[in-house]
Amino acid sequence: MKKVYIETMGCQMNKSDSERIIGILAQFNYQECTNPREADLLLVNTCSIRQLSANKAYSQIGVWGKWKKHKPIKIGFCGCVAQQDKENLLKRFPYLDLVFGTHNIYELPQLIKKVEAGEQVCAITETPYKTDETQYQINRKGNLNAWIPIIEGCNNFCTYCIVPYTRGRERSREMNAIIQEAKKAIEQGFKEITLLGQNVDSYGKDFKDNKTTLANLLRELNKINGKFRIRFVTSYPTDITDDLIDAVEECEKVCKYFHIPMQSGNSEILKKMNRRYNREQYKNIVDKIRKRFKHVTITSDFIAGFPGETEEQFNDTLTAIKELKLDYSNTAAYSPREKTIAAKWVEKYIPEEVKKERLERLNNINKQACTESNKRFIGETLEVLVEDIKEKNGKRIITSRAGNNKIVHFESPTAQIGDFVNVKIEQASMWCVKGSEVL
Ligand code: SAH
Ligand code: SF4
Ligand code: F3S
Repeated sequence: MKKVYIETMGCQMNKSDSERIIGILAQFNYQECTNPREADLLLVNTCSIRQLSANKAYSQIGVWGKWKKHKPIKIGFCGCVAQQDKENLLKRFPYLDLVFGTHNIYELPQLIKKVEAGEQVCAITETPYKTDETQYQINRKGNLNAWIPIIEGCNNFCTYCIVPYTRGRERSREMNAIIQEAKKAIEQGFKEITLLGQNVDSYGKDFKDNKTTLANLLRELNKINGKFRIRFVTSYPTDITDDLIDAVEECEKVCKYFHIPMQSGNSEILKKMNRRYNREQYKNIVDKIRKRFKHVTITSDFIAGFPGETEEQFNDTLTAIKELKLDYSNTAAYSPREKTIAAKWVEKYIPEEVKKERLERLNNINKQACTESNKRFIGETLEVLVEDIKEKNGKRIITSRAGNNKIVHFESPTAQIGDFVNVKIEQASMWCVKGSEVL
């Protein structure tokens, strides 16, 4: 058997893709290894969301390229940067053996044969490669959570974002394929299903049958026997329908957790970002969700220093986090991406040091918001899934996660990884809460 090593950068969709890439390769005599030095085939699955992510991919390839002088290894480059740079990658890194895009994963069996025959291969298509993906094995990482992509691509074209160019237009998977994949994962012992999509609530819009919706998919998955949880990420604010909120309420297996990136707290900037909502509309969605669910958490993403962002406009982002009591936010400084509209507004770019300083303030507000959010759970009882156990001075310290994504620590002489336990929260810090098992 040959050995393959994969370095995965970027979001959960890339992690899920890597599990599928390794699964396909396993059927072609490649076994995954954890030490890149031992590999016959080295793959980097890349992310292009910010320039820094893309640079990371290029420098990884540079390192491996040097190894090739001493060892007959094969090197492959895939994921979002591959989809974007295409055959230019072969010019820039002539020692690459294989380049394949985000739409070409299921062509790997043919591609790998060519690579083994000594060809240099580049497979990037703009249109989806239609295949029955259920025939391939998935090498899932971890034993508790199973990623399941349900929709890929994006039709929104936010002015800062590269994703529509790296993942193409929205296309949903057949509901049946998803249900089969979920059933299999639950039979294998997974305790959590996370449905993935760049805009998960657009699921089924390309099927035009008005029954294939995220809400109905949740209802179907909720019927699968067994004790497990269902999550879904990422939601586009104004695509969260009342029917989806109803489904989350009806389905006991669905976590009361919403990841709804706001991007900016200022309506003018939101317009320039081509987001289809303003501050008020986003607030209405958050209010509606909070009213419906007791222990719900709502997390978000924000960009600091979008072209032309004034100090006052940035301040609106800080006040939004506080006013909306957002439980946690991913934050980033704006990074210009080639091909996107905002990248052309060079004269409006915010200086690096200003972006950095704004990001720092944003992170500080985020930390305060997290601490406040955690404190709100003191005295509440949450059902958690046990993820890890550490023995310390004869005590078993449990790390677990609640349905609303809070990290919960507690002591237990008996709890095992994969158990669901009720914990009463007693203490809160910035990134986690502590409590005691309710017996
Ligand atoms: N589909 C999701 C977001 C996917 S991209 C949505 O619409 O909200 C993940 C996050 O990366 C975004 O939420 C955004 O905050 C960040 N991001 C995207 N492009 C960026 C850029 N050019 N610079 C900085 N952050 C960016
Ligand atoms: Fe990017 Fe906007 Fe699409 Fe999200 S909705 S992936 S931010 S273009
Ligand atoms: Fe990055 Fe592609 Fe995901 S650009 S964030 S890996 S969709």
